[in-house]
Amino acid sequence: SGSESLVIAMDGPSGTGKSSVSRLLATRLGARYLDTGAMYRVATLHALRAGVELTDPAAIAVAVKDLPLGIGTDPSHEVIELDYADVSGEIRGDAVTKAVSAVSAVPEVREQLVALQREIAAAAGRIVVEGRDIGTVVLPGADAKIYLTASAPARAHRRNQQNIAEGRGDDYEAVLADVQRRDTLDSTRAVSPLRPASDAVIVDTSELTREQVIDELFQVVAQQISSG
Ligand code: DC
Repeated sequence: SGSESLVIAMDGPSGTGKSSVSRLLATRLGARYLDTGAMYRVATLHALRAGVELTDPAAIAVAVKDLPLGIGTDPSHEVIELDYADVSGEIRGDAVTKAVSAVSAVPEVREQLVALQREIAAAAGRIVVEGRDIGTVVLPGADAKIYLTASAPARAHRRNQQNIAEGRGDDYEAVLADVQRRDTLDSTRAVSPLRPASDAVIVDTSELTREQVIDELFQVVAQQISSG
């Protein structure tokens, strides 16, 4: 741990183990951690509660303006609030997960959350920021950029295991279909499509344990920092 500024951008699709390794990396570096996916999920929950049509981007933009979002950056203690109430569980539920692609595709929503993400990163100084467009759009000047990926079956398997562990049922085929659906939506949208930054190091986690991924990330970060 230390006080020198260090910004690490961690991007990639869902189901690569990105959140858990990002948190672990932040802890071991004595850095803060920001889950930007959680921010889009809170915006989505807020839009759902307001009862807006998900097919109406203008209505979504209005609903999400002045979003009463609270998000913490302690890698070992998750704080995610909407209107000062904990929503860390609710934002992982089915309703939000199904609607989040539509809400995160709205340019005004992205502008607002990207501005907040930049403020949080600047205030933290030393931080691992996890998302889809961190290295490309949010923090293009990051000290290190990593793009975590894995095969669709490997990601679906991880997500399904997570569902089983958290009591959300066991349905690999449905999870695989959802992984592929969200990949397509996220990588083909007009605003900030999911893609690696040209200067990101791509790490494929399909065949790696979490510890192996962490080892690899430490090497990549050290290399990227020393090569400026
Ligand atoms: O990482 P996650 O599954 O919690 O992300 C939820 C959704 O938010 C996902 O569909 C992609 C979107 N997202 C985004 O568009 N940009 C980010 N920086 C992070 C997430």
